[in-house]
Amino acid sequence: MDLEQVKGDITKVLVTEAQIAARIKELAAEIDDLYKGKDVLLVGVLKGAVMFMADLSRAIQIPVAMDWMAVSSYGSGTQSSGVVRILKDLDADVLGRHVIIVEDIVDSGLTLSWLASNLSARGAASVEIVALLRKPEAAKVDVYVKMVGFDIPNEFVVGYGLDYAEKYRTLKDVGILAPSVYS
Ligand code: PRP
Repeated sequence: MDLEQVKGDITKVLVTEAQIAARIKELAAEIDDLYKGKDVLLVGVLKGAVMFMADLSRAIQIPVAMDWMAVSSYGSGTQSSGVVRILKDLDADVLGRHVIIVEDIVDSGLTLSWLASNLSARGAASVEIVALLRKPEAAKVDVYVKMVGFDIPNEFVVGYGLDYAEKYRTLKDVGILAPSVYS
């Protein structure tokens, strides 16, 4: 969906479609260099990471496999608590494989911190994280993110996979949602 369709709901575009595409090429090239010759499993976290996974995986030139997890963090409203429940587990076995968790956004870091330890405990040869967006000011736990697309301010953002009440995921750019939409 183009921005014009929801222009009144977005106060500011933070990352454009073109900026995302350019950054994804760089991230993919980094992954090609770091993981050449390794058995790589990209793990996408549903649903927000769908767009990023689709574009990143196709920009990567080395052969990689792809799998998905769905998790839900218990918490009130928009606050995650760090207690994570697996709604859909991987089909693949990660034992001895190099796992790259593909996420749309690192907010508090609680989900990813839990997920990285969970996958490491299953015997992965390595577990790293690539996130398109990160909100440094929102961090509650220190989680090492090997590759980040863009650091953004602590605002409610939507688009390119990120939603508000399941809306705006299909927006091509990432923008700040107008408070009037959710308050
Ligand atoms: C978002 C995002 C991460 C998590 C980040 O998912 O995709 O998984 O929250 O937050 P954290 O760093 O504070 O843990 P969400 O629960 O909104 O689900 P969705 O991807 O299905 O929209």
